[in-house]
Amino acid sequence: MPTPPVDPHITKRVAELRAALHHHNHRYYVLDDPEISDAEYDALMQELIRLETDYPQLASPDSPTARVGAPPLAKFETVKHAVSMLSLENGFNEADIKVFDERVRRLTGRKTVLYTAEPKLDGVAVGLVYEGGRLVTAATRGDGVTGEVITANVKTVPAVPLVLLDAHGQRTPQFLEVRGEIFLEREGFKKLNTERLEEGLPLFANPRNAAAGSLRQLDSRITARRPLRIYVYGVGSTQNLNVASHGDLLQSLKQLGFRINPLTRSAITVEEVLDFHGELEGKRHALAYEIDGMVIKVDRLSDQLQLGNTSRSPRWAMAYKFPAIQATTTVDAIEVQVGRTGKLTPVAHLKPVRVGGVTVSRATLHNEDEVRKKDVRVGDHVLVQRAGDVIPEVVKVIDTKRSGAEKPFEMPKHCPVCGSSVVREEGAAATRCINANCPAQIKERIKHFAAKGAFDIDGLGDKLVEQMVEKKVLNSFADIFTLDQQVVEGLERMGRKSACNLIDGIGGSKQISFQRFLYALGIGHVGEHVAKILAEHFAGLDNISKATREELETITGVGPIVAASVVNFFSRTENQEMLQQLLKNGVVVRYETRGHRTPLAGMSFVLTGALTGMTRRQAQELIEAAGGRVGSTVSRNTDVVVAGNSPGSKLQRARELGVAVIDEAELRRLIG
Ligand code: IVH
Repeated sequence: MPTPPVDPHITKRVAELRAALHHHNHRYYVLDDPEISDAEYDALMQELIRLETDYPQLASPDSPTARVGAPPLAKFETVKHAVSMLSLENGFNEADIKVFDERVRRLTGRKTVLYTAEPKLDGVAVGLVYEGGRLVTAATRGDGVTGEVITANVKTVPAVPLVLLDAHGQRTPQFLEVRGEIFLEREGFKKLNTERLEEGLPLFANPRNAAAGSLRQLDSRITARRPLRIYVYGVGSTQNLNVASHGDLLQSLKQLGFRINPLTRSAITVEEVLDFHGELEGKRHALAYEIDGMVIKVDRLSDQLQLGNTSRSPRWAMAYKFPAIQATTTVDAIEVQVGRTGKLTPVAHLKPVRVGGVTVSRATLHNEDEVRKKDVRVGDHVLVQRAGDVIPEVVKVIDTKRSGAEKPFEMPKHCPVCGSSVVREEGAAATRCINANCPAQIKERIKHFAAKGAFDIDGLGDKLVEQMVEKKVLNSFADIFTLDQQVVEGLERMGRKSACNLIDGIGGSKQISFQRFLYALGIGHVGEHVAKILAEHFAGLDNISKATREELETITGVGPIVAASVVNFFSRTENQEMLQQLLKNGVVVRYETRGHRTPLAGMSFVLTGALTGMTRRQAQELIEAAGGRVGSTVSRNTDVVVAGNSPGSKLQRARELGVAVIDEAELRRLIG
C-alpha cells in the first residue's frame, strides 16, 4: 500500500521540532547551560512524539525520540572498523615517560615536543560513525579490528549527539568517526548496584563492568535506564576536519556537540605532563568517575602521522598509569564466617600487606563457587585488590609460586559456629546454616537490629552484643528491652556508668518508625530502601503480616524475591511470637498518619535541582506528610518530577518518559 502523502506543513514542523530538541539537549547535557524552561522543552518533545505517532512514515533513526530505546535485537551484528582501534603502551613512572619523550623527539627530529594530556577513563571504548552529519553506527572496540554494533544502545546515552550541525545549522561533515569512552559515574554505579541488591540480581564488580554490561543489552530500553556518560578523545577516519593539533581536534569535536573532558590540558611540555600527572593522582578519588591514569598524546597531528603506529599501539601516545591498588601476599588461613541470615562466607586471612595506602589482612572470598573458580588454597600467593572504599578481594592466585603444599578449601558440611547442618539450595550461590538459633546468626541479627538505620541503640556496640550473646544474657531482640542493669554491670569492660547509659539508650530507642522497625527485623532482601517502600504501603504490622505475594508484587520497587522473602518471614510462628514479645516489652511502632485521604495519596515524586523556598528534605517531608512518596530515580512509575533550579539528568529522563514536571510553586499548590 503506498504511504499517503504528508502535508508539507507537518513535515516541516517535525524537522523544526527535531532541530530544536537536538539543540536544547546539547545545551543541557553537553554545555550544562539550558536556554528554555523544562516545561517548554516538554511541550516540544510531546508535540514531536504525537506527530511521529500520527505520521509513522516520518519516522527517523536520528529523531530525539530515539533516546528512550528501541525494541530488542536478537543478537549484535559485527562491523570492521575503517581504522583499527588500537590500544596504548603503558608507562608507570617518570622514567618511562622521559624515554617516550626522547624517542618522540628523536623520530621527529624536534628539540621539544608539545603534548595533550587527558585523564584515562576506565569505561568502554566506542567508535561513533557519522555520515552526512547523522549517527549511523556505534561499535565497541572488540578485538580492535572488528567490533560489535551497539547503535541503539549508544543512542540512549544523552550526551551522544544524534546529528552534527555546523554554525549555520547544516548537517556536517560528510564523514566522521569519533572515538571515546562510555562510562558510569561512581554515584550511578552505586545506585545501580543498590537497586540490584534489593532485587536479588547479581552485582557488578565495578563501574567499568556495569558500563560494559549496560552497553551489551539486546534491549536498549534497559540501557536507557542506566545513567551512562561519555567523553570523546579522538577520531578514527575523518574528512576535512582541518585541524593541526590534537588540542584543536578536541575543540572542533566540542564545537560539533561532543563532550570533552574539561580536565584535558593541551600544548604542554613533558615537564608539565609530569606535574599534571601528580596533580591528577591527587584528585583522582575526588572525581565523580574512576580513572586509572592519564593518556599523553603528541599534539601536532603531522608529527603523529610521521610517528605512525606499531601493530598494537600508536607511537605518538602513551598511557601513564597510576600506582596499583593491587598487591601480592599469601593466604595464611581461610575462615568461614556466619552472617545474620546464616550465610557462610569464606574469608581469606592474609599476611598483612599495604595496598593503596592501607594495610590489608583479610579479603572476602564471597562463596564456595568463587573460591572454586579462583582455586584459592591456604598457603597460596595471591593478588589482592582494594579499590576506593570497597572490601578488599582476592583477584587471582599466582600459580607459578605454588609449592604443592597448598591446601584446597572445602566448604564445611556443618556450621563452624553451632555445628548444625548447612544447606545449599539448588541454583543459589550461598551455603547456609539452617539453625535459626545459631549463636553467630543471633549475634549478627542483634548487631543489625541495634545499628544505625534500625533501632540505633546508643551504647550497644558489636563487641558488647557478642559478649552478651555468648553469656546468654541476650538470646533474642526482645531480650534487649528487659535487660537488667545489675546484670549489665557484671559484664566485662562495663561499669555502673556505662551500664546506666546503655539502659538509657535502650529506653530512648523504644519508639520507632514503622520503616526503621521493618528494616531492623533483618528480613532477607529488605534493606533500608525496600523497608521504606513497605512502610509507605502498609498501614501497620497486621496488614503486612497478612499480605500475599501477589499483593506485595503490585508495589513499585518490590519484586518477586522480596515478596517471597517478606511472606516467608511473617508466616513463621517464631517470628510472630518475636513481634508480640517486642511489643509486650515496650516497643512502640509509630505509623505515619497519612493514609489515603491525603492530597498526594499514592503518588510518587522525584525531586531534582535546587529549591528556593525549602530544602529538599523539607520538600520530601511535606510530600510524605501529604501521603506521597519520594523516590530517587525517575521511571515509568514516577507520577511527578519536581524541578528546581539547575535540575539534573532526572529532568531529561522525565521528559523522555513523558512524566509530568512541575515547579516548586506548583508543588506548594498541590500540597495546599
Ligand atoms: S586514546 C590509539 N584517550 O584506553 C589511541 N584512550 O589502553 C587510542 N582510554 O581502548 C586511545 N581514556 O578505551 C585514549 N583519553 C583517552 C582514554 C583512552 C581511556 C582507553 C580506551 C583505549 C584504552 C587503551
